[in-house]
Formats: sequence, structure tokens, C-alpha cells
Amino acid sequence: MNKEYSAAVADDVLKINSRLLACPELCVKGREPELRVIEAENYALSVGGKRIRPVLAIEFYRLFSESGSVPDWVYDAAIALEMTHTFSLIHDDMPEMDDDELRRGMPATHVKYGADVGLLAGDGLAIAAYEVLSRLALEGKIPAETAVKLIHILSSGAGNRGMIAGQMLDLWSEKNHGGVDEAFLRKMSNRKTGCLLKASCLFGAVMANAGDEGISRAESYAEKVGLAFQIVDDVLDVTSSEETLGKPVLSDRERGKPTFADILGLEGAMAEAKRLSELAAKELEEYPRSGLLREFALSLAERKK
Ligand code: IPE
Ligand code: IPE
Ligand code: MG
Ligand code: MG
Ligand code: MG
Repeated sequence: MNKEYSAAVADDVLKINSRLLACPELCVKGREPELRVIEAENYALSVGGKRIRPVLAIEFYRLFSESGSVPDWVYDAAIALEMTHTFSLIHDDMPEMDDDELRRGMPATHVKYGADVGLLAGDGLAIAAYEVLSRLALEGKIPAETAVKLIHILSSGAGNRGMIAGQMLDLWSEKNHGGVDEAFLRKMSNRKTGCLLKASCLFGAVMANAGDEGISRAESYAEKVGLAFQIVDDVLDVTSSEETLGKPVLSDRERGKPTFADILGLEGAMAEAKRLSELAAKELEEYPRSGLLREFALSLAERKK
């Protein structure tokens, strides 16, 4: 990414982190035993992470907004996406799923706090996302109708026909290699990763009151970015290092999880990620403020972590 865009993303990330810190749902005051779960949630959120999902929401807002500037309430709403994503990572790392002990360069939440607290921390973050969005409406910071739309976008993207469905297919694939081909991997990745990335892009578009054409461009961009993102994630599991990624490498292979790296080969997978990124960037070509989002898509194939 060029310097101007990287600086803009870094600025978004700073603001996202400061909104997460200021979020009343995550505030821990006192030493009561029940607060330990919130401490674990804060741990999972604060140890790192690229914040891609809220950044996409913010940049789609900027793209479709009248002035191009982003008010505080947009950042406040966007953190619901990071809470949902972080919940999915906590559960994804548990022994019953991918059994990974390192996340974002630190011990996974279930390792640091125990599986019992880790499980609840994932639950707590999943639910807090909706507490945040509904609170923003009750405080008058977001119109109630917009909040309902966001809640629907997030719950359907993360839920039974979205991310949860993808995680189910992922579990199924470990035990049913014969049923896994490229079409299956596309479906699984669209659900487990693409659906939340699509929800993120739609968050921005809906908050900025984008019209039908804008919404459908955002969806189309997100579908391609989502798939490219998971393809590269699969490749990095083979080609990167634990130090760079902040999570274990060869984890998919150890679990016998079929990935794009196996089905398309490393070069084939990267070529497909590049093709999808270029198509995603094309979707936004006509929009004057789309430079950052186009470059974000194009940089996916080069990402190192
Ligand atoms: C990892 O997501 C899980 C996938 C959906 C592939 P990220 O690569 O965005 O993880 P963080 O948030 O930066 O840790
Ligand atoms: C993660 O996919 C998808 C979700 C967490 C919903 P992966 O299992 O490939 O993600 P990593 O590689 O552990 O980050
Ligand atoms: Mg997984
Ligand atoms: Mg995993
Ligand atoms: Mg992975």
C-alpha cells in the first residue's frame, strides 16, 4: 500500500483501538469474580490484530458519505465487527476446533485463561456486539432504523447461514476429504470468512446511506476480497513463519484440513487470489474516493500476515 493509504489505515486503527478501550461493555472496574471474563475479552482484543473488518466499514462509509469525513459514531459502531471477529478467533483456536495455542503473537485466550473462561469470553464478545449497536441507537447516536439494519447485517453474516455455517463446513471437511473439491472450498470460505467481511463493507455502506447500486458494488467487492483473503490465509499457513503470522503455521496440515493450498497448489492459489483482488478493485473503479479500498484489495496477494 502506498504511504498515504497506509497512514490513513493506521489512523483508522488507532481510532478503532481507542473506541474499543472506551467501550462501556468492555470496561472492568473492581475485582468481582465475574469481571474476569471481560478481562479475557479485553485480552483477546488488545493483543493485536489487523482490524481489517472495522477498517473496511469505515472506508466504505468514507466512500459513500457526502463529505468523506467520518464521525465518531461510525467508529463506535464498527467495533461491533471486531468483537464478532475476535469471538470467532477465540472459539476457532479451542481444542475442539483448530486447537491452536498462539493467536496474535500471544497465548490464545483459552490457553491464557483456561477453556472455561475462553468459551465464555467468546460468547461474551459475540453478544456485546449487539449490546453496542442497540446502545448507540438508544443514546440517539445512530437512527434506530440504521441500528436494526446493522444488527441484521451482522447477525446474518456471522450466524447460521454465514460464518457459523462456514465453520461447520470447515469441521466437516476435516473428516470428509473425499467430499472436498474447489467448489466446496469456495463455499466454505465464502461462509466462514467472506460473510463477515461482506457484513463489514455493508456496515459502512448502510451507515452512509448508500443507494442500491452502491450496496451491490460493496457486496460484489466484498465477495471477491473475502475469498482472496482466505486463499492467502491458507497459503500463509504453509509458507510463512509463526513469528511473522503470530499464529502457528502448518496448523491446517496437522489437522488434515484441506485448503486452497492443497487443491490449487501454492502458485495456483496465489494466482486465483490475485485474479479475485483485481476483480474486486475493478468493482469500485468509478468511485472518486475508492483509492484506498482498491489498493487494499490489490495488496491482499502481497500480504505477509
Ligand atoms: C484471521 O483473520 C482469520 C480468518 C478469517 C482467516 P485476520 O487475518 O483478519 O486476523 P487478525 O484480526 O489480523 O488477527
Ligand atoms: C478462521 O479460519 C475463520 C473464522 C475464525 C471464522 P482459519 O481457522 O483459517 O483462521 P486462522 O488461520 O486460525 O486465523
Ligand atoms: Mg478454523
Ligand atoms: Mg484457525
Ligand atoms: Mg487459517
